[in-house]
Amino acid sequence: MIDLLTAQKLDKEDVLAGFKNYFENNSNEIYLDGNSLGKLPKKTLKILQETIQDQWGKKLIRSWNETWLDLPLRLAKKYGALLNIKKEEVIIGESTSVRLYQILHALINSKKYTNKLSSDNLNFPTDLYVLEGLVNEFNLGRVNLINYKQEIIADLNLLKKNIQNHQGIYCLSLVTFKSSFLYPMRDLNLWAEENNSIIVWDLSHAIGAVEIDLKETQTKIALGCSYKFMNGGPGSPAFLFIQKKLQDSLHNPIKGWFGHQNPFNFAPNYLPDSGINRFASGTTQVLSMQAMEPGIDITLEAGIKNLRKKSIELSEFFLNGIEEKLIPLGFKIQSPSNSNLRGSHLTISHPASWQICQALIQGELKALKVIPDYRPPNLLRFGITPLYTSYEDLFRVLIRIKEIVLTESYKKLKKQK
Ligand SMILES: Cc1ncc(COP(=O)(O)O)c(C=O)c1O
Repeated sequence: MIDLLTAQKLDKEDVLAGFKNYFENNSNEIYLDGNSLGKLPKKTLKILQETIQDQWGKKLIRSWNETWLDLPLRLAKKYGALLNIKKEEVIIGESTSVRLYQILHALINSKKYTNKLSSDNLNFPTDLYVLEGLVNEFNLGRVNLINYKQEIIADLNLLKKNIQNHQGIYCLSLVTFKSSFLYPMRDLNLWAEENNSIIVWDLSHAIGAVEIDLKETQTKIALGCSYKFMNGGPGSPAFLFIQKKLQDSLHNPIKGWFGHQNPFNFAPNYLPDSGINRFASGTTQVLSMQAMEPGIDITLEAGIKNLRKKSIELSEFFLNGIEEKLIPLGFKIQSPSNSNLRGSHLTISHPASWQICQALIQGELKALKVIPDYRPPNLLRFGITPLYTSYEDLFRVLIRIKEIVLTESYKKLKKQK
C-alpha cells in the first residue's frame, strides 16, 4: 500500500532532499516535466544578472578576455567530469540538432564507414529529420529506419541483426523520449565496432538522469542538450563528445572563425584548429552558457550515483502507486518495468490522456496543479527529477489523477488538442 505517511518517511530519510532549495519552486504546484525543461537554479538568476549588468553593461568587450573566452572550456571540464571523458574531448555550444548535423556530415565525408545512415522508431524526431536531410544532401537513398513492433522496448536482437546486415552510421537516443527505454550502451558499441559500424548517441534524455561513462562504454561520439535534467535553461547549448583519436580526421562542415587555428589573425583562409575545437563555428553563446553552469555544478555536487539511486527508488514508488491506484481506472504503463532498462521519466497512457493532462496543469479552484506533459497519441509523461522531486509529491500526484478521473472533471475540457 502506498500512503502519505510512508512517502513522508522516505522523504525524511532522503539525503538529497535539501537540493530542492537550490531551485525556484512554485507553491501549490508539482513540476514533473524536468525531462523537457529543468527548473531554474536560484544561482542562475544571480549569474545572469552579473553577466548582463557588470560584464556586458560595464566591462563590455574586456569581458571576453577576463571571463568569456574561457567559459566553454570551463563547462567542457565539468561536463567531462560527469561523463568520464577529458575536457579536450567535449565541446559546448550550438543545439543538439546542429551538432548532430555537423558530426554526421563529418562522418559521411570521412569515408570511415559505409555511407548508410540508420536509426530506429524510438528515436526523437529531430534526429530522424537530420538523418533524412543528410541522405538527401549526399544522395544516399533512404534512412534505414528499424521499426520495432512496439514503442516501449527496443528489440535488441533485431537491432543487432540490423547492424550486421546494414553496416554504417547509426544514431540512437540512449534514453528514448516516449517510453524512457535505456539501451545497453557498451554492449551495442562493441557490437557496432565488430561490425564496422559506429553509433552516434544522443544523450539528451539521459544526461543527469542516468550514470554515463563514455570511456568505459567505449563510446566514440555522443551529444545532447543541457536544458532537461541538467537544468541549463530554455534552449541552453548542447554538448558534443568526440573520442580523441577520431577528432583530427573529422571536418566541421560549418567552418567558422571560432574553429580556426588562430581566429584573431583574421586570415582569409580557413585552417581548422586541431582537436575538438575545430567543431566550433561562431561566437560563443555567452548568456546561455553562463546560465548553464549552476545546473552542472548542482549535478556534480549531488553526485550522479546518488541521483540515479534516488531516481530508481522514486520511480519504483510511483510505479507501485500507478499499479495500485491508476491501473484499475484504465491507465496502462508504457515504460519498461525493469529499472535497469529505464531512464528517469515514466510514461502511462489512457484514452483521455490529453484531457487529463490539461486538467492536471490547469488545476481547479484551490486544487493542486501538476505539470507533466503529453505526447501523442495518448501518452502522459512524468519526469522524475531526483534533485527536486519528493515521494510526497508523487503520492499527491497519484491522488490528484485519481480524483480527476473519478469525478470525471477532465470531461469538461476540450478533447481536441
Ligand atoms: C533525444 C532528443 N534529441 C534532441 C532534442 C532536441 O534538440 P534541440 O536541442 O536541437 O532542439 C530533444 C528534445 O526534446 C530530444 O529529446
